[in-house]
Amino acid sequence: MKTVSSSLTLASLVGSALAGAIYTLNECVRGEGFYDSFNFENITDPTHGRVTYVNRTTAESLNLTYVTGDTFILRADDTTVLNANDTGRNSVRLRSNHQHYEHVVVFDIQHMPEGCGTWPAIWETKESDWPASGEIDILEGANNVVPNQSTLHTSHNCSMPNNTLQSGTFTTTNCDASVAYNVGCAVKLTEDKNSFGPGFNSIGGGWYAMERTLHYIKVWFWERCDPYVPLDVRSGAWIIDTDSWGTPAANFPNNTECDIQSHFGANNIIIDLTFCGDWAGNAALYNASGCPLDCVSYVNNNPTAFTNAYFQISSMNIYK
Ligand SMILES: *[C@@H]1O[C@H](CO)[C@@H](O)[C@H](O)[C@H]1NC(C)=O
Ligand SMILES: *[C@@H]1O[C@H](CO)[C@@H](O)[C@H](O)[C@H]1NC(C)=O
Ligand SMILES: *[C@@H]1O[C@H](CO)[C@@H](O)[C@H](O)[C@H]1NC(C)=O
Ligand SMILES: *[C@@H]1O[C@H](CO)[C@@H](O)[C@H](O)[C@H]1NC(C)=O
Ligand SMILES: *[C@@H]1O[C@H](CO)[C@@H](O)[C@H](O)[C@H]1NC(C)=O
Ligand SMILES: *[C@@H]1O[C@H](CO)[C@@H](O)[C@H](O)[C@H]1NC(C)=O
Ligand SMILES: *[C@@H]1O[C@H](CO)[C@@H](O)[C@H](O)[C@H]1NC(C)=O
Ligand SMILES: *[C@@H]1O[C@H](CO)[C@@H](O)[C@H](O)[C@H]1NC(C)=O
Ligand SMILES: *[C@@H]1O[C@H](CO)[C@@H](O)[C@H](O)[C@H]1NC(C)=O
Repeated sequence: MKTVSSSLTLASLVGSALAGAIYTLNECVRGEGFYDSFNFENITDPTHGRVTYVNRTTAESLNLTYVTGDTFILRADDTTVLNANDTGRNSVRLRSNHQHYEHVVVFDIQHMPEGCGTWPAIWETKESDWPASGEIDILEGANNVVPNQSTLHTSHNCSMPNNTLQSGTFTTTNCDASVAYNVGCAVKLTEDKNSFGPGFNSIGGGWYAMERTLHYIKVWFWERCDPYVPLDVRSGAWIIDTDSWGTPAANFPNNTECDIQSHFGANNIIIDLTFCGDWAGNAALYNASGCPLDCVSYVNNNPTAFTNAYFQISSMNIYK
């Protein structure tokens, strides 16, 4: 991890009359740096997935995490046929050492896990008091297809108006985790079929970014070859201006039905890959995805189906 001092005088570089959407680089994570910035969560999956989250020693010895070139790989086992009495397919769940309040995070991702039964996610929460400190799902989906979305999950009394400036579409607007089996307030990223799964991988991925302020939470996605990807995002600049990033894919504003500040506390960043479980393994959803067998049988018996079940991440930049 390279932690860059953010005390570099902003004013001297960009003048003093700018709006609040200017941030400076606080943490720049690349390659081996992921091992310094994240812990391996060797826990039973809280979402009841068909998964065993291994520790770092095991992950490295099984090559479930490694660094190649400039990128960090996080993958699941793709060689073992599981018995019913195994605890689940070996995989990895990482949690950032640092917690964050207002910030921007930008992920440059080359590849994300794909395959029936997979449920990859890049998200933020504080697990120990969930959902009191909120949950922001930046990139999450299941079974390749249904649905690619960004979602908030909160304590009681937080809803979004369905009229925000965003390219995606709200499928649900009540963020309260206790409502409707914790479906949260979800925005489907309608604009871009390459924002998730095989489509994402076929174009070499792209950038996901999330900005959290007291006034809103926004998520953006840009494809690798999008000519309009902002230069500060593309270059991993020291200074970024989210005001220049255009319409977000998802936009969750502070509003009379949701005081963002009281529903979001210190959050860790989590990167994980689980299988089946509460979402991907939901029988109706799994079936509707066109996936074979039932989820657990498929995941147990078809290790080679998970050869492409990996994240390949070039960088994670955090701005404050
Ligand atoms: C922790 O990881 C080890 C392998 O590294 C695994 O055998 C064990 O089941 C994991 N524990 C939990 C609770 O998942
Ligand atoms: C990781 O898990 C393996 C297998 O269960 C165990 O032998 C080893 O002691 C664990 N390492 C750490 C650092 O927990
Ligand atoms: C781990 O993966 C790397 C990169 O693909 C490879 O060079 C290495 O041989 C693998 N190690 C094991 C133990 O499979
Ligand atoms: C797990 O299941 C396999 C295959 O059914 C069996 O051979 C093995 O003895 C079982 N192991 C345990 C610990 O129950
Ligand atoms: C993402 O969701 C949109 C909207 O539902 C859909 O049109 C698109 O096909 C999805 N993309 C993938 C890769 O599933
Ligand atoms: C929000 O509005 C859009 C566009 O009118 C509509 O398609 C969508 O179903 C609405 N979502 C909810 C949760 O009402
Ligand atoms: C968020 O919205 C609530 C309700 O309108 C308001 O009381 C609060 O001041 C707003 N927070 C900020 C930071 O503007
Ligand atoms: C819900 O939040 C609003 C502000 O967003 C606040 O005015 C109201 O008192 C809250 N209601 C409850 C029951 O907490
Ligand atoms: C899945 O779909 C198949 C074929 O349509 C059907 O036979 C099966 O009962 C479905 N399973 C579930 C769990 O919905």
